Amino acid sequence: MIPRYLINFDSDKIPKSVSDVLVIGSGIAGLSIALRIGADFKVTLLTKSELGETTTRYAQGGVAAAVGENDSPESHFKDTIEAGQGLCNEEAVKILVSEGPARLRELIEFGAKFDFNNGKISLSREGGHSVARVAHARGDATGSEIEATLVSLVRKNSGINIKENVFVLDLITQEDKCIGVITYKYPDEIEIFYANVVVLAAGGMGQLYKVTTNPPIATGDGAAMACRAGAEISDVEFIQFHPTAFYANENPRFLITEALRGEGAYLIDYDGNRFMLGVHPLAELAPRDIVTREMFRTMTSTNKDFLFLDATRIPIEKLKSNFPTIYRHCLDNGIDISKDMIPVAPAAHYMSGGVSSDMNGRTTLPGLYVCGESACTGVHGANRLASNSLLEGLVVSKRICDILPSEIKELKTDFEKVSVSYRLPRGYSKADVLEVRDYLQKLMTDNVGVVRTEKALKLALDAIESAEDILELEFNSVSGFELQNMILAAKLIARSAFERRETRGVHFREDFPLKDDLNWKKHSVLKLNEGKMEVSFRGLVGQPSRLS
Ligand code: FAD
Ligand code: SIN
Repeated sequence: MIPRYLINFDSDKIPKSVSDVLVIGSGIAGLSIALRIGADFKVTLLTKSELGETTTRYAQGGVAAAVGENDSPESHFKDTIEAGQGLCNEEAVKILVSEGPARLRELIEFGAKFDFNNGKISLSREGGHSVARVAHARGDATGSEIEATLVSLVRKNSGINIKENVFVLDLITQEDKCIGVITYKYPDEIEIFYANVVVLAAGGMGQLYKVTTNPPIATGDGAAMACRAGAEISDVEFIQFHPTAFYANENPRFLITEALRGEGAYLIDYDGNRFMLGVHPLAELAPRDIVTREMFRTMTSTNKDFLFLDATRIPIEKLKSNFPTIYRHCLDNGIDISKDMIPVAPAAHYMSGGVSSDMNGRTTLPGLYVCGESACTGVHGANRLASNSLLEGLVVSKRICDILPSEIKELKTDFEKVSVSYRLPRGYSKADVLEVRDYLQKLMTDNVGVVRTEKALKLALDAIESAEDILELEFNSVSGFELQNMILAAKLIARSAFERRETRGVHFREDFPLKDDLNWKKHSVLKLNEGKMEVSFRGLVGQPSRLS
């Protein structure tokens, strides 16, 4: 039984405020939304960390958009569909690739300093793209440039009420409509924020894995709170592992962008062989799922924890100018990438599924919109094409803002009382929380990782279910609440991965190694019904059955 709210509360006894729009999250998705409507509406932006501490900030490769001379939205469409392995929503992808170029140019007009060459946007190549299509900023510091630009604009906009270090616990619902959120701020401030519209832009859940590129904020809070509130969650079995994270005993692991392979870096094994040759015509630049799987296979068969990326044939000036962050990070760790092999291994990187929505951000829960990595619009299918994520955040945030004005009505203030008292006192210390978090991350990495089997998935599900009593306790720390969200998010992933008895995109079932369109060309849909998780499979995602 999964309880509806994370804490006991009585809404009559908690401070409240009211906004037109509440935005949860300050990555590319949340900031873009706040920025676009902050001048016209009363917007509150909530983020559980500092404004700039997001996954967006760490993005390296860039933003994919058909702006090159030898490119077209049709070609971008084709590559996205090919990578998505039969599960992309084609209408959604058409919107993504056709509106993408304008959104990229707009971001540049907002002030983000992308790299240019002879007056044209400089483009690099990444896995699964048939042409160089990825626009970047300060070489491999694209995310940092985008985040800094948007943060500075949002801070200048006095219409946006920015609330940092405020942890959103739950979406509040009444009569099956989302009417606001309840929040926690250290050490013991609880507050309610009501709004006409709530936009969830809370990012992904890479921290469910021990080996991940995602920063500590990526704990699956968005999917967990939306699920508890009754929204549908789709396609979360499709967890993408990036092939080349810098091998080190740390979490998160530092990313080595695919663009380095786009410039000519090779993947090699311990015998010095380019093992991707013969596996796929694009070799190292094959779609991410294929490269990751081959790396995993090679590592397992040779009993090694990492392989190598060889960038030594790229001129040192280019390494320094195009990949300054990577060059510096590796040097700080004793690797001169102009001379030495870079140790790399796959790491959990991106959640292709999320809260079901259409390309206007509408979820199945009236009043709730979703944008960015938290969303499942269907554009990524079973395997996201490299650098399509930042693009999705840009495209969908604009579309949400185009329709929001019609959703914003005079806000009622006579909300019914909400009272919750079923939570049990906890007996968990901070050390216990960290121990369970560590256990969960290892469980997910070992059993719900790159290669999956019925036996391993069952083991993971049983272990998650036996940890579910933790969901009934009442914590009063962010780490405790995050752990509860991680347990629920882990269950969402393990359950849908268990049910999908085929191999497709990033979901590789060793016991069902083939793609099975006849039975499984469908999207997983998870939903809580009176605290119980129900799974079904449907032909369409991004077409909510009930729109706000
Ligand atoms: P985020 O940027 O993750 O922001 C989420 C926000 O939600 C944060 O502000 C967080 O604090 C807040 N939040 C979460 N939970 C709560 C809560 N409970 N209460 C309050 N606030 C909350 N994609 C590309 O397209 N191109 C790339 O080059 C690229 N490189 C990448 C490199 C790395 C190392 C990684 C990890 C990812 C990369 N990706 C890339 C993926 C991409 O960066 C992310 O998918 C994207 O930035 C997500 O943006 P977002 O706005 O949805 O979420
Ligand atoms: C990378 O730069 O390799 C990451 C790009 C992405 O995740 O889209």
